[in-house]
Amino acid sequence: MKALVLSGGAGTRLRPITHTSAKQLVPVANKPVLFYGLEAIRDAGITDVGIIVGDTRAEIEAAVGDGSALGIKATYIHQEAPLGLAHCVLIARDFLGDDDFVMYLGDNFIIGGITDLVQEFVRCGADAQILLTKVDNPQQFGIAELDEEGRVVRLVEKPAQPRSDLALVGVYMFKPAIHQAVRAIRPSARGELEITDAIQWLVDNGYNVRSHFVNGYWKDTGRLEDMLECNRKVLETIEPACRGRVDAESRIIGRVVIEDGAVIERSTVRGPAIIGKGTKIIESYVGPFTSIYHDCVIERTEIEHSIILEATKIIGVSRIEDSLIGKEVEVAPSTALPRAHRLMLGDHSKVSIAY
Ligand code: DAU
Repeated sequence: MKALVLSGGAGTRLRPITHTSAKQLVPVANKPVLFYGLEAIRDAGITDVGIIVGDTRAEIEAAVGDGSALGIKATYIHQEAPLGLAHCVLIARDFLGDDDFVMYLGDNFIIGGITDLVQEFVRCGADAQILLTKVDNPQQFGIAELDEEGRVVRLVEKPAQPRSDLALVGVYMFKPAIHQAVRAIRPSARGELEITDAIQWLVDNGYNVRSHFVNGYWKDTGRLEDMLECNRKVLETIEPACRGRVDAESRIIGRVVIEDGAVIERSTVRGPAIIGKGTKIIESYVGPFTSIYHDCVIERTEIEHSIILEATKIIGVSRIEDSLIGKEVEVAPSTALPRAHRLMLGDHSKVSIAY
């Protein structure tokens, strides 16, 4: 069995972070979202992994490399433009050959892995297996309709008037019949080859499409609130560890991981929280559910329930909450007159200022 991991696409809902970076590499508890998926695939016993990459190819390749550090063998498949999930299957034909495969959306986050699901798919002999979960906002997902016996009868991508609240989770399992399906369908109104249409083709042509309900935790990390929620979930389970240096005037409370070479001086860190390699926390308060990535400086600042990406400096800010801050950002007080906020923000940035 092989895996096809989708790591192209645009990531419009996480702008401006995704203007410059791949959304699949935004860290959850200081580990890129994509790595959780690759590890779940490896744990299910699948090591031959094709990764679809687009404009952010260089960044994804730099992070994953040949995959050996994650226990997989990575093959990169370049997609010219985000032409749809079924388009990814189309261009991965040579890589996939006639093997069964798991298709995994690189921005999806599942706690509990996919091992049981893969085993069930192998056992049941279906042509396709989809995962479903109930959602409150079905307009934002692929939606499945089932008959009284629980068989899949209809799949619609992001319907304006949803006829069910059963969303497709971003993990699909296929036998080679899907290759015929992705060749048979045409682009949707939004110009994409939809995987929902390809699966519908399987249903309409008498193939056996199974559905399975996901009981555990699942999130599409497309939006800020979802990223913060995944970050909370993982931080709640981390094993406290200190591989950095904490001075005698600092207090570390609860579940806190301090990574190699991090320095905590005259500060309080109240977990669950993680402080990345080489990061300095000076005269600051880091509150629960905060992940600070590597080589950051947090000085005379209070921060809580936030994710900070690498090499960012935040100095002298009285309180930051519910925030996602990108790489190499600098936030610092200004001494220049007139007293004013001076901003240089990327397109689609969002700033809320507390007076
Ligand atoms: O998260 C579950 C949902 O994922 C499903 O309910 C939907 O049926 C499915 O279409 C998908 O919807 P999204 O709007 O969340 O898809 P998104 O455009 O975010 O793409 C998902 C992943 O696939 C993401 O990592 C980017 C990648 N991708 C996407 C497209 C369209 C590609 O690599 N190439 C593409 O052409």
